[in-house]
Amino acid sequence: LYTAAPFVPAGADLATLRRAAADCRGCPLHRDATQTVFGAGNASARVMLVGEQPGDQEDRRGEPFVGPAGKLLDRVLADAGIDPSQTYVTNAVKHFKFTQAEPSKRRIHKSPTLRETAACAPWLAAELALVEPELIVVLGATAGKALFGSSFRVTEVRGTVLEREIHGRPERVVPTVHPSAVLRADDREGAYRGLLADLKVAAHALG
Ligand code: URA
Repeated sequence: LYTAAPFVPAGADLATLRRAAADCRGCPLHRDATQTVFGAGNASARVMLVGEQPGDQEDRRGEPFVGPAGKLLDRVLADAGIDPSQTYVTNAVKHFKFTQAEPSKRRIHKSPTLRETAACAPWLAAELALVEPELIVVLGATAGKALFGSSFRVTEVRGTVLEREIHGRPERVVPTVHPSAVLRADDREGAYRGLLADLKVAAHALG
């Protein structure tokens, strides 16, 4: 069984968790990744945004959402009226998973398996327990499955405020698509408008 659980220190603050996560060997993804990419942002944020996993640039820089998807996320949050200083941004999986034809070739993102996502879940649970956000924004299917299980379907619930129990606590959650899906969409403008509409629901729920 893959699990991060033995690497997660009890009673730790976010800075301590982040340091511990750097040494996580809870699943095989640490072998090929450059480093662990832990969550970042305001430790008392009103909103926690949960993505899938770090991408190529995040893996090199050690920070979440600093590549193309992150640029788009910054823009759409601003358009939705969500203050970035009130956010904590993290991922369901904390190591970059990729395929690469040769060492000199581009590293291509590969989706994490359910086993890898489940292995990493104790980090996300610890972040949630410490940040205690008023609202969780789920960015895409992997994050949704990490929090709600494999039956989660982003298309069925996007742009709605869900009230769900997560790790024994009542949480409000607004699911939406992943910003990378907007970058890949044939109709990028339409996809952007959809993401923006969902985030406006989140902004409204925050009041
Ligand atoms: N995509 C994600 O899901 N997370 C990141 O940090 C970057 C890209």
